[in-house]
Amino acid sequence: MKNEIRVFCPATIANVSCGFDVLGVALDNVGDEMVVRKTTAKGITITKLEGQDLPLETHKNVAGVAGLALLAATDYTGGFEIEIYKKIKAGSGIGSSAASSTGAVWAMNQLLGKPFSNLELVQFSMKGEELASGVQHADNVAPAIFGGFTLVRSYNPLDIIKINTPKELYATVIHPQIEIKTSDSRKILKTTISLADGIKQWGNVGGLIAGLYTEDYDLIGRSLQDYIIEPIRSILIPAFDNVKSASLEAGALGCGISGSGPSIFALSKGKEKATQVASAMQDVYNKVGIPYDIHVSSVNLEGVKIIE
Ligand code: HSE
Repeated sequence: MKNEIRVFCPATIANVSCGFDVLGVALDNVGDEMVVRKTTAKGITITKLEGQDLPLETHKNVAGVAGLALLAATDYTGGFEIEIYKKIKAGSGIGSSAASSTGAVWAMNQLLGKPFSNLELVQFSMKGEELASGVQHADNVAPAIFGGFTLVRSYNPLDIIKINTPKELYATVIHPQIEIKTSDSRKILKTTISLADGIKQWGNVGGLIAGLYTEDYDLIGRSLQDYIIEPIRSILIPAFDNVKSASLEAGALGCGISGSGPSIFALSKGKEKATQVASAMQDVYNKVGIPYDIHVSSVNLEGVKIIE
């Protein structure tokens, strides 16, 4: 058995418009890298962290906290060293903390001979999410572990369902260069919703799941609507309405806030369309002078994976 592996930890789009805290999807072209190695010394040490200014102390780092949760559940008497190469910016809305948490526990599980199930790895990773956002939400970590689209059908007990990914589905993500902490963007949400909004929202969740399984791109597009969270959070995101309308005009199936923002995502049928959507999004930010990162990506079907 190997003593060290290098893994790719995918970025993820949580919520996917209608599924606040329950839906998510993993991306192929954006993600962090981590090297995890077994040590005879107990515990977890973050030996390197490049790309972002984040804490190295195990108890303050999401990878450290998720890893400690896994260690506490094993008889393994040694420990692990972790090197983190961040490419996903913290506070970008594409699952930066989830990439670190899941990368750590997935790699540790491999090095220990896979004693834990994917569901258990999600549970360990949720401890990292709690450190980052104050809440153990699983809608980023589930797709990062399982790959593809995932649905958190229930939190208690945790029940995660991997959903079919239509072959031609591509994501476009634009990240205006501001940071929004998930904890802050959760504080502004209302804790109750109207029955009328609930009816519209769960109609769309059902529609989106049906569209993903039947590969009905029009149904996917009709279902990418958020009546509850987007009207509140979009005010924090520069030119959100303009980016959304430009994406839809360019032919995106749908467009919304990625996770807790500020990134904005769109789903499209085919890479060419997703690239046109990227240009339309960029035009909006170029005109108003907002710096951004932009990504076009296929859906990552495997989740965290070993790289050489
Ligand atoms: N569901 C979470 C939220 C995702 O929207 O707050 C955070 O990335």
